Amino acid sequence: MLYSFSNRGLRSGTSPINELIQYDLEHDDVISLAAGLVDYESLPVQSIAANIAELMSNPRLAQAALQYGTTRGLLQLREQILEHFRKAEGNKSLFDADDVIVTNGSQQLLFLLADILLNPGDIVLVEAPTYFVFMDTLKIFGVEIHSVAMDGQGVCPEALKAKLQELRQRGVLERVKLFYTVDYFQNPSGISLIESRKSEIFALIQTFSQTSHPILILEDAAYRDLGFNGVSAASFKGMDIENNWVLYTSTLTKTFSPGLKCGYGILPKPVLEQVMRHKGCHDFGTANLVQHLIAQMMLHGEYPNHLESLQKSYAAKALIMNQCLEPLRHKGISWQIPSGGLYFWLKFPSSLPTGPQGSLFKACLKEKVLYVPGEYCFHNTDLSEVVGSEWMRLSYGTVPTNEISEACHRLIRAVDSI
Ligand SMILES: Cc1ncc(COP(=O)(O)O)c(C=O)c1O
Repeated sequence: MLYSFSNRGLRSGTSPINELIQYDLEHDDVISLAAGLVDYESLPVQSIAANIAELMSNPRLAQAALQYGTTRGLLQLREQILEHFRKAEGNKSLFDADDVIVTNGSQQLLFLLADILLNPGDIVLVEAPTYFVFMDTLKIFGVEIHSVAMDGQGVCPEALKAKLQELRQRGVLERVKLFYTVDYFQNPSGISLIESRKSEIFALIQTFSQTSHPILILEDAAYRDLGFNGVSAASFKGMDIENNWVLYTSTLTKTFSPGLKCGYGILPKPVLEQVMRHKGCHDFGTANLVQHLIAQMMLHGEYPNHLESLQKSYAAKALIMNQCLEPLRHKGISWQIPSGGLYFWLKFPSSLPTGPQGSLFKACLKEKVLYVPGEYCFHNTDLSEVVGSEWMRLSYGTVPTNEISEACHRLIRAVDSI
């Protein structure tokens, strides 16, 4: 049968990451350092079982939780999310619960925001490297992606300014709709954008915006709560006192459980209203049972406790991984030690390209260890040239602590074999 898909449908290509995940699932003896999944052992199994039992033992709460909820999300949970955000911002009293929306993971919100804001031909600025799933999302909407360079302190304000100037000179500045940043322990690089740069970037964005065409900051704070020392820098959203410029998205999937698939956003009111109209057609509300469950766990104070133990366990895993990778430094391979999140971002010499067609990737398959080739994380306008083949993303998220050393040995053997 010949099916006739829409242009938009046809623009959603197959993600190479899905192929890596599939490969891992089909090969029991493979250790995947590719998947950005969370640590199995730290999933709050007992706590979820106890809280579900408690919810179901209260007929009034049980019935409410098993009924449809609202599109915006459970008020109690939105208040708790806001309180959590306020604490992270040093107890600044900002926004109200109606500025918060609860979504099916933050990915749903990223998709909805792209859907309500972007027309084909619009321009979105992203970091280089960036979160590949959002790049795929942008491709669905037919937008023009422009990359802005990063260094060890996050995206470079001078590079952003130069990009905006270039677009103004080309007469296309009014097509720039969004600047997308993963500003905490970025996926894939693990780098956080330092606070002083945030104020500079916020000012830049306002300077280059026109009244009729504001450029919005899409702040994806998915890993904000995963800093190893438990604190995080102020956000762009915290600087957006009038709630006009910043679309803040974050998630409880990485910090509680991906199986609950619960994310949220803090958005300017008109944007939130538009997202709600759209979400109303998607699902008219995030799973209500999930929201009641998380709200109850937060009420019992379980979220901060869980976060603390998660931060400790990821910090310990990152430390082990750093030690195990050490022999690679003699091969001219370098990296920053992560201070949060789930990723190591390794830079290889040009003689050792990391791409999926190269000998290193094949040697790793032979050694039964998987990684994410850096080139998946860069936007490439010129298809005749590969960007990012000197980078490799490794995740210590899902690999059990006692397998980290074996995984690293396999990687080292693969490098040595070339
Ligand atoms: C940077 C970033 N943003 C958003 C997401 C979406 O996460 P979720 O939909 O599970 O909340 C992810 C997941 O890996 C991510 O890495």
